[in-house]
Amino acid sequence: MTGQQPFRIGVLGSGKGSNFVAIADACAAGKIPAAVAIVLSDVDSACILEHARARQIEARYIPPGRFRTKLDEDAERAFLEALRSAQVDLVVLAGFMRVLKGEFLRAFENHIVNIHPSLLPSFPGLESWKQALDHGVKVTGCTVHFVDAGIDAGPIVGQQTVPVLDADTPETLHARIQVAEHELYPRCVAAVARGEVAVSGRRVVWKAER
Ligand code: GAR
Repeated sequence: MTGQQPFRIGVLGSGKGSNFVAIADACAAGKIPAAVAIVLSDVDSACILEHARARQIEARYIPPGRFRTKLDEDAERAFLEALRSAQVDLVVLAGFMRVLKGEFLRAFENHIVNIHPSLLPSFPGLESWKQALDHGVKVTGCTVHFVDAGIDAGPIVGQQTVPVLDADTPETLHARIQVAEHELYPRCVAAVARGEVAVSGRRVVWKAER
């Protein structure tokens, strides 16, 4: 929290935006002591932008540039400028399918969180629910973590487990993981907004532990 200003969140997403909806609704209900100031997407048609506009939250598409898995320099600058002019305290990645690099990470060091659909460090990367099914694990889940230069590798804020059922398809398992995500992510973002967690080396320390 900066002075009397409410804690301000900037959300980045590429897809349907169900995690954004869970977080925005938790802010509106007072469960997260923060406001979503801006939503940015690298995908023009992403539903996350519509969900934001329906909630009267500023929403912008920013073209990602010439790369497939990361932002190019101009795009990175445009994302950063938008977040800075919205005076964002925390960047929340909600299904943002590009890797953030150098200048972006430095600008918001320890102030970017992500949700990943597995119990990290298991199954980083894409379609983690399929990886879980392929490995035959009996339990998977989701992880909220601070973002660093590694892929799905930063300090872990929280995790929630989800059972894998014999009859699961990739779709049914991902749907069950998403139910858990919508509980876990608002809880973790609330803890960050309240200043209850801090990064210490590779770990997240909760205030009570310090
Ligand atoms: C979520 O399941 C999230 O964990 C995943 O994308 C989905 C976005 O859903 N993110 C990743 O796989 C990042 N590596 P949403 O658009 O409905 O929030």
